This record gives sequence, structure tokens and C-alpha cells, in this order.
Amino acid sequence: MNRDFEFRQLLRAYRAGVISEELFEAEIAELERKSVANGSGGGGFRAFGKTYRSERDAIVSFIDKVRVAEANAAEGFAAWANVTPTDCIRSGLRMIAEREAYHGRIFANRLMELGGEGRAQVSDDSRQFNACAADPAMSDSEKLLRVAATIRDPEAIIRPILEFAESLKEDVETKEALRLFAEDELSSTRWLLYACAALNPSVQAEAAGAQAAG
Ligand SMILES: [Fe+2]
Repeated sequence: MNRDFEFRQLLRAYRAGVISEELFEAEIAELERKSVANGSGGGGFRAFGKTYRSERDAIVSFIDKVRVAEANAAEGFAAWANVTPTDCIRSGLRMIAEREAYHGRIFANRLMELGGEGRAQVSDDSRQFNACAADPAMSDSEKLLRVAATIRDPEAIIRPILEFAESLKEDVETKEALRLFAEDELSSTRWLLYACAALNPSVQAEAAGAQAAG
């Protein structure tokens, strides 16, 4: 069970008079002892090059950002699907929009379950992406070129998510959600690169050249 959660439960019980001060102190001492034994005490939890107070804090911070970015991207891809004149990419855009939307919901729910606060805001880059995506005057090839430029290497994009998931020891529920999230992102980004190459023959030639050279 999550250490912060256990601590809050104990504090609530003590404040409500359900447990005595002695029992509260004894339980806290036991929690501390367990956390030191697990190696999660003292040094905090390392993730994304930062040190968090606990595994839970790292999760709350990450899934808060994911929830906002995914919900925003869902709107962007849905708007793009609505304006695209290109039949062969419409269904892909719709599928990606659905994936982004449910990632947003899953992580918003998880954030609530963990008692975390929603603090993240939509980034300027995400806002800009949505403006382009919804623009009927911009061609699909141009939109795909812009997206592809931000993707480049799909495996590299999901690597930090998988590493983070791998490092989670207490919250196995979030751990598995992150693994599946990474699989979805890999599928979406690969398809976007493929669609970009299909609609931009020059990119296709470049990719083929790189493959032949590699
Ligand atoms: Fe996404």
C-alpha cells in the first residue's frame, strides 16, 4: 500500500479520536521502519532526472501532466479528422483522438484516486498543435510534416515512460496503466510517421535512402 496513503489514514483516525496518541505514534514509527527497509525512506524517489518526496508524488506529478496533454491532443486530432479532405488518414486520426481521450480520462481518474490535485496546464506547444490541426487552410501533408518533426523516433519518445513504469514498486495499478499507455503512444506515433511518408513522397524517398544506407 502507498506510504502517504497509509499516513493520511492514520492521521485521520487519530484526529477523529479513533486511535490514541500512543497507538498513532507507534504506527507512524512502524511506517518509517518499513519505508527504510524498502529503501524508499530518506533519499526520496528519483524520476525524470528529479527527486520526489515519494513514489506517489512522482506519479501524481507525471500523470497530472499526461492527463492534460492527452485530453488536449484528443481535441486536436478530433478537429483534424473533421476537416481532413484525405480519406486514407481520417480513420487513423479518429482512432488516435479516441486513444488520447481515454488516456486523459484514465489518468484523470487515477489522479483523483490518489488524492492528487490537478495543477498542470496545457503547454504552448500543445495549444499550437491544436490550432494547426483544426486549420482547414493547412494541408494534411504540412500538418503531418510538423507532427513528424516532433516525433522523429517513436521508441525514444516512449522510453522514459517505460523506465518510469519499471521503477514503480508500490503502485502497480499505475505501473500497468503506464505500460499500456506507452504501447498506444508507440502505435500512434508510428502510424503518424507512416502517414507522413505516404503523403510526402520526398520524405518517403529520404526514409528509403536512409534504410538502404543503414
Ligand atoms: Fe498521446
